[in-house]
Amino acid sequence: MEKIIDEKKQGNSLVLEQQKENSRKLYIESYGCQMNFSDSEIVASILAKEGFNTTQKMEDADLVLVNTCSIRDKAEQTVRKRLEKFNAVKRINPKMKVGVLGCMAERLKSKFLEEEKIVDMVVGPDAYKDLPNLIQEIDEGRNAVNVILSKEETYGDVAPVRLNTNGVSAFVSITRGCDNMCTFCVVPFTRGRERSRDPQSILKEVSDLWERGFKEITLLGQNVDSYLWYGGGLKKDFEKASEMQKATAVDFSELLAQVAEAHPKMRIRFSTSNPQDMTLDVIRTMAKYPNICKHVHLPVQSGSNRILKEMNRLHTREEYFELIDNIRKILPECSISQDMIIGFPTETAQDHQDTLELMEYVKYDFGYMFTYSERPGTMAARKLEDDVPEEIKKKRLTEVINLQQKHSAYRTKQHLHKTIEVLVEGTSKKSDEHWMGRNTQNTVVVFPKEHYKVGDFVNVKVNDCTTATLIGEPVGYSENN
Ligand code: SAH
Ligand code: F3S
Repeated sequence: MEKIIDEKKQGNSLVLEQQKENSRKLYIESYGCQMNFSDSEIVASILAKEGFNTTQKMEDADLVLVNTCSIRDKAEQTVRKRLEKFNAVKRINPKMKVGVLGCMAERLKSKFLEEEKIVDMVVGPDAYKDLPNLIQEIDEGRNAVNVILSKEETYGDVAPVRLNTNGVSAFVSITRGCDNMCTFCVVPFTRGRERSRDPQSILKEVSDLWERGFKEITLLGQNVDSYLWYGGGLKKDFEKASEMQKATAVDFSELLAQVAEAHPKMRIRFSTSNPQDMTLDVIRTMAKYPNICKHVHLPVQSGSNRILKEMNRLHTREEYFELIDNIRKILPECSISQDMIIGFPTETAQDHQDTLELMEYVKYDFGYMFTYSERPGTMAARKLEDDVPEEIKKKRLTEVINLQQKHSAYRTKQHLHKTIEVLVEGTSKKSDEHWMGRNTQNTVVVFPKEHYKVGDFVNVKVNDCTTATLIGEPVGYSENN
């Protein structure tokens, strides 16, 4: 018998979670990039078929999973701290099993079992379909490990169970892995080689989301512009594909166009673009379809040509400027955001100035900025000494963050006194009487709720702003409703 245990009204969308009686409870926590959050939804789907229902309370769980990130040392330390907490709960509930998923699982493999005695199961990002077998192993009292990386796996045939959803926006993954081998980055080691998902399964997932009332999707990949479907297999093997496969291959700009055309009222975002792989075709496709959001996340990491080369970023700052100029020309309304790494090995005061100068040229809308963290096994860790002193890294980081704040404030102000379309996502964190949503550029907007609901497209007149948030009043439904 099935009974409804949780019924949350969120605006006009009703979220029902059904639970089979006598089923087991899964508690899952995710860290790191959006891809990890999306993967956890795949894991929840695979385990739902095994009779596991998700719970928000760790204390109630039969199985606790943590989907981990290895991108910086700090991300790994955060997970280690959480494991201590899990350990405390396990002392009260010794039957509880603990599994580690994601990039740390792939990086540390069975070493995890020795280092963290609490862990029963270690599962890498390409091995989630093996979870039913691995769980049987741990049920029988053995530890279980599967960290095999795959040439084919895209989970295209798994319908994700949406976790913590607002019923409005969802992630749809389109590629897995990365072939770029930036020298600082652990991702190619933990997520394997690049492969793309069948466009038909992507379109089907988007249609399902649309039918369930979702209004915005983000197409996800470590490097979306490198998307290439030619019938399956690794991107690096495309050269070996048949003439027929090559002639019918779908690249990222075609995929974007297909999704945009199939659902003209669905907002489409994508992340992340790598400057060396982003094509003019993609920018032109963005211009052609009003439902593709006018925002590009375009990490640059450094403004110095010498450092870009050391990082194995396969473009120069001049080529980056050319790309920025093209985006501004074809899409004058487009917002641009960045990722920066501060204090990469050998970074001099002049290299740092080059970064500040590049930022001054672009004036990014927002960005994610971190000091360099050496990752074991990467080319940078093997070849270069982490030689920029910590206090210099911190000082440079502060300068970069301060400059970004200035630019964010400048960009946010450009929207003042304009009327913009906002998709309502939920209640503002600061006020129960206000909705929070975003405009096409991904800027957060808050406005009085009035009669509007979650999932509505509302025209909002902007009257005020802070550094990163627009404040306005609703003036009616947008024609997109
Ligand atoms: N293509 C992926 C990159 C994932 S890593 C994406 O853009 O989502 C995300 C960001 O983490 C990178 O852009 C980089 O700025 C940062 N990063 C990666 N490795 C790092 C390291 N070793 N130290 C500090 N920051 C790092
Ligand atoms: Fe990492 Fe560079 Fe790929 S940052 S994910 S190796 S594009």
